[in-house]
Amino acid sequence: MSEPPFHPGSPRGLYVRTFGCQMNEYDSLRVQRLLGPLGYVPVSDIGEADVIFLNTCSVREKAEHKVHSFLGSLRRLKKIKPHLKIIAGGCVAQQLGEKLLDRFDHLDMVIGTRGVGSVGLMLQRLQESGGRLVCMPGEENGLPGPGGPEIFPRGGVTAPVTIMQGCNNYCAYCIVPYVRGPERSRPASEILEEIRRLEDSGVREVLLLGQNVNSYGRGLDEKSTFVDLLRRIRTETGIARIRFTTSHPKDLTDELMQCFAEGDTLCKHLHLPVQAGSDRILKRMNRGYTAAGYMEKIRRLRLICPQIALTSDIIVGFPGETEEDFTKTMDLLEEVRFDNLFSFRYSDRPNTSAASFPDKVPPEEAARRLLELQTYQADVTLRKNLAEVGSVRDVLVEGPSRASNGQMTGRTTHNRIINFEAPLSSCGQILGVKISFAYSHSLKGDVIVRPKAQSGRDL
Ligand code: 5AD
Ligand code: SF4
Repeated sequence: MSEPPFHPGSPRGLYVRTFGCQMNEYDSLRVQRLLGPLGYVPVSDIGEADVIFLNTCSVREKAEHKVHSFLGSLRRLKKIKPHLKIIAGGCVAQQLGEKLLDRFDHLDMVIGTRGVGSVGLMLQRLQESGGRLVCMPGEENGLPGPGGPEIFPRGGVTAPVTIMQGCNNYCAYCIVPYVRGPERSRPASEILEEIRRLEDSGVREVLLLGQNVNSYGRGLDEKSTFVDLLRRIRTETGIARIRFTTSHPKDLTDELMQCFAEGDTLCKHLHLPVQAGSDRILKRMNRGYTAAGYMEKIRRLRLICPQIALTSDIIVGFPGETEEDFTKTMDLLEEVRFDNLFSFRYSDRPNTSAASFPDKVPPEEAARRLLELQTYQADVTLRKNLAEVGSVRDVLVEGPSRASNGQMTGRTTHNRIINFEAPLSSCGQILGVKISFAYSHSLKGDVIVRPKAQSGRDL
């Protein structure tokens, strides 16, 4: 099938669909940024696409199913538009490689997680060859390089910034070390440069990303710990707010806890996945801490920063989890009272050690436990939101609210979403908002002071 002629200046549509975590969202932004200079413009209507880039996720079985069914649904589109190029990137692509091409004969290219930086070159090769390609660079670190087009100014008030990738922890259930590779960090100078550029383009809040940000810096020539990096961002840039995810409880140091008490730039929210409350299960998961050890860290953190919001991840139905183990998880939730929780039913993932554990929990039992846990947490989350009513919070205005007409949306330092009346021009400002109403997933409020602090620099 011949390619329609491509004239410089006649843009081609690029449709990017992202599954999974914020790391994938960041990589999708990089893909858009890298393909822009080659004449590809992002389109939101898939029917206008000349190239479709799927950034895939395989962390849980359900996520992988979604990817497969979406890929399958593209077969019809490719039939009516044969020049369309369909590319799969991300974790499923890394995991299956060529097998993904075998499974979907309308798929044109598979790019592994370390190949994002080569997407432009690979797409050109694909267009020229007219064949199908697999790109699985083993050598590249998959992180954005210094300078170049990958460091992107972009519209928007908040922006993700990858600081490290990969993981060496090998939790028994987790596919990440196999699809993202070993841990590697970006030099601090590159991260600071990217943040300054984002700041120049109007970004006020950065979300520092990595599978385990606490271990940032290992193996770098330019010595830096995660705490050093946080302090440098706070003092060497004018960014108003910093968030980060994800942290591993075993690597959470007192020094890092202390950062939450050093001014307002670092948002007072920590996502600290505990996964389970039973020591037996934590050991089988290879998590490297006990429930009491986790609780002790929470206690110290709350002493240092009493208002801190805490969220976590839980897996229920891990192989061998008994009713008694599950009760220990529920006990831990009752003790901590997380502000919010992401909870999942265990699913086998290829290559992981837990996949070969014999004592699987029956799916209906795991589903029952998940429902019990989620029902409990929904009540806690709502109560915590209700407790916000009447208080005044600093809110970074992110843009028009999707849900309510004419309203703006933003987040409190505790990562609560809040909707309120404000002009469009308030976007990017930090406003004082008095909370008037609480829902299960968001708050409503009224602006009382505007605009408030314009810079979060608190030297
Ligand atoms: N089954 C269920 N949940 C999982 N997670 C990771 N691997 C699995 C799995 N095999 C969850 C963990 C992790 C979150 C991102 O996904 O809770 O923190
Ligand atoms: Fe997966 Fe564990 Fe690494 Fe997190 S720390 S990415 S759960 S292996």
